[in-house]
Amino acid sequence: MTTPAPLYLDCDTGVDDSLALAYLLASPEIRLVGVGTVSGNVDARRAATNTLDLLALGRRDDVPVAVGAHDPLRGVYGGGAPGVHGRNGVGDVVLPSSGGAPEAVSAAELLLRLSDEHAGRLRVVAVGPLTNLALALRADPTLPERVLDVTVMGGAALHPGNVSPVGEANIACDPEAAAEVLAADWDVTLVPLDVTMANLLEETDRKALLEAGTALAPRLGEVLDLYFGFHAPTFGRRCSALHDPLAAAVAVGGVTPTVAPRVPVVVDATDGPGRGQTVCDLRGRYAGYPDVPGARTRVVLATDAPLAPHLMERLLTL
Ligand code: RIB
Ligand code: CA
Repeated sequence: MTTPAPLYLDCDTGVDDSLALAYLLASPEIRLVGVGTVSGNVDARRAATNTLDLLALGRRDDVPVAVGAHDPLRGVYGGGAPGVHGRNGVGDVVLPSSGGAPEAVSAAELLLRLSDEHAGRLRVVAVGPLTNLALALRADPTLPERVLDVTVMGGAALHPGNVSPVGEANIACDPEAAAEVLAADWDVTLVPLDVTMANLLEETDRKALLEAGTALAPRLGEVLDLYFGFHAPTFGRRCSALHDPLAAAVAVGGVTPTVAPRVPVVVDATDGPGRGQTVCDLRGRYAGYPDVPGARTRVVLATDAPLAPHLMERLLTL
């Protein structure tokens, strides 16, 4: 058994972020060494409270949680997505309070501290707007030298956006940050809507979580209730897309990308109708999506198996 890799999670703990967090707690391939929160589904401070509560239920209150950026690099926080994640970010479920408190440092500072502590081995998974990663890069441009890899849930390649015709929420909330993160000197694996919207959790899964008889899994089942209702008009039944847990599973190796070309990706940070779009150069489509020399971003378009069975197997242990 190889030593679990240290992993930093940056999130806007929301409902699917909660699933990603729980999945990482149940993944022996990695050890969660820190969580930074950012405003997105809910404000960064509320996201930190949600994260602390979930970590306590997962008996991992040893994991430091740091509050990150409230506002994007440009503009102000848009107020969250109460119709999707609830007013409190976790489906308006009242979780048992951890009684814990976030770190005194910011998420960007925590990320930089962890990159020093785990230099060369730290894995980064970001499932919210990329503001904290951009702030960390601005504070210390050498950060990529100490990070093993970066996996981002975000963007839409050939798929429509979800907050605009072309914008996916995490990118569109802070396009400037996303552009800086993708331009940095590290390899990024982008897990876009193209593949996350093809991985669903069903009511049978949610029922299994509710009936798990453990500390955390049943709470996740409760947290999913509102989220399932949000997805019903899209899919014609109560279910949910698995955006953030898919990014976590790609990072951990729980699912394997089968179509994931390294191609140039430009984030539209203009003020036009394309703002927040991830413009992926997929002109190699009919040649089997060859990698483009020099490209640093791997865009995951397909994976080897549905996520839900693997995700459920791990969540039901919590
Ligand atoms: O577009 C989906 C993404 O936006 C997910 O990370 C979800 O949690 C929201 O942050
Ligand atoms: Ca998220």
